[in-house]
Amino acid sequence: MQKKIIVAIDGHSSCGKSTMAKWLARQVGYIYVDTGAMYRTVTLHALQNGYITPEGIDEEGLRKSLSEVQVSFRLDPNTNLPLACLNGTVVEQEIRGMEVSNHVSPIAALPFVREILTAQQQQMGRDKGIVMDGRDIGTAVFPDAELKVFVTASAKVRAQRRFDELTAKGETGINFDDILRNVEERDYIDSHREVNPLRQAPDALVLDNSDLTKDEQNAWLLARFDERTNQQ
Ligand code: DC
Repeated sequence: MQKKIIVAIDGHSSCGKSTMAKWLARQVGYIYVDTGAMYRTVTLHALQNGYITPEGIDEEGLRKSLSEVQVSFRLDPNTNLPLACLNGTVVEQEIRGMEVSNHVSPIAALPFVREILTAQQQQMGRDKGIVMDGRDIGTAVFPDAELKVFVTASAKVRAQRRFDELTAKGETGINFDDILRNVEERDYIDSHREVNPLRQAPDALVLDNSDLTKDEQNAWLLARFDERTNQQ
C-alpha cells in the first residue's frame, strides 16, 4: 500500500490553488482542506460582530471572542466537498463575497488568529492523507510535508479568473479594476506581514500556471504526487 503523505499547496490569491488541490484530493482519496476558508470564516465573524470598524480592528475584542467561535468543515453530501461552517452554520457563500475578500488579509495578519488556525490545521493533518492549500502550509503549518507546491500566475490573469468566478456566481456591481487592486493589495499584505508571510519554501516546486489549462496543471500535479508516493 502506498504511504500517505501531506501535500502542501501554497501561492498567491486566485491562482487556482484550491481547484487543483480539490481535484488531487478527490483523485487520490485524500482529505482536502482550504485554509483560506478558515481565515475568511474568522473574518466573517469579525464583520458580523463589529470587530472591524472604519477606525480599524478591535483586536482585543476579537481575540476574546475567538474562544467562543468554532470554525469547521462539513462535507457537502452531493459534491463530497467540504463546506466552511461558522459555529455549525454553513457560510460558504458569505465568505466568498467581496466584503470578506476586502477585509481578510489584515485579519489573517493577526498573530493570535494565525496561532489558533495553524494549531487546528496541524491537528487536521496529524494522520496525513491530506491536501491543504493556503499561504504558509509548506513553511509554517507542515514544514515537513512530503510534497510542497508553490503556485503563481500574473496578477492580471488572477484578477480575470476572480472576475469570471464572481460573475458566474451572479455577484453584481463588480468591476475588473477593483478586483485587480484587491488581488495586488492582498499579495502585498500576504507577503509582507510579520507572522508567516506568503513565501516559497526552499524545497517547494514552483508552478506558474498563467498559460496552463486546468488539465495540464492537474496532470503535472498528479505526476509529482506519484513521484513522491512511489519514493516512500
Ligand atoms: O486563499 P484565499 O484567497 O481564500 O485566502 C484568503 C486570505 O487568507 C488571504 O488574504 C490570505 C489568507 N491566508 C493566509 O494568510 N494563510 C493561509 N494559510 C491561507 C489564507
